[in-house]
Amino acid sequence: MTAPLRKTRVAILISGRGSNMISLIEAAKAPDYPAEIVLVLSNRPEAAGLAHAASEGIPARAIDHRDFPDRARFDAALQAELEAARVELVCLAGFMRIFTPGFVEGWAGRMLNIHPSLLPLFRGTHTHRQALDAGVRLHGCTVHYVVPELDAGPIVAQAAVPVRPGDDADGLADRVIVQERRLYPAALALVAGGSARLEDGRVAFDGDVARADGALLSLAV
Ligand code: GAR
Repeated sequence: MTAPLRKTRVAILISGRGSNMISLIEAAKAPDYPAEIVLVLSNRPEAAGLAHAASEGIPARAIDHRDFPDRARFDAALQAELEAARVELVCLAGFMRIFTPGFVEGWAGRMLNIHPSLLPLFRGTHTHRQALDAGVRLHGCTVHYVVPELDAGPIVAQAAVPVRPGDDADGLADRVIVQERRLYPAALALVAGGSARLEDGRVAFDGDVARADGALLSLAV
């Protein structure tokens, strides 16, 4: 008899719709998926994703940043929730709030984010508009480790989509989010399972992953 898989305890942080969160929750239902989603937190009580997580039986709580006088005290409240749930890895999924450097450093190598561009291009917001304005022919999304500098951490996985003549920002967003929902579960599986990790500020992959990385590097045409 094989020993049961030890699953990494993951919290997902959201601010809105939570469609990436849903894709992670769905992936984690597979018995051989190396992560379990044990907590969902939002800085916005009205985030639609909270109700969905609760309907899945996952503890889901709002910690409204407007209730705190500064970032440090908001981050401390987040930290307390994460510790109480014995969270080992944090996934940001549309979490639109900047952390204090101390909070990020405390989760170094244990916090992932998905960003809707091919980093290091187009950090920040309105990434699809930025891509159209720059005239790039390829756009996409990136899963990366979180570092104190915004949208700048070591890259785990990327998926590209073509920019088509006549695209507007909404159309491009629709094409990118499809890839986000596929990419994030694949990247989390690698990190939670220990096949990808942060070493000396770079992402180290197991050899077999580096050879068969179709799920982590792709062009959807
Ligand atoms: C996603 O496109 C995600 O990449 C983006 O917010 C959206 C959330 O959608 N995140 C950022 O821009 C973070 N800088 P979702 O709530 O449906 O997952």
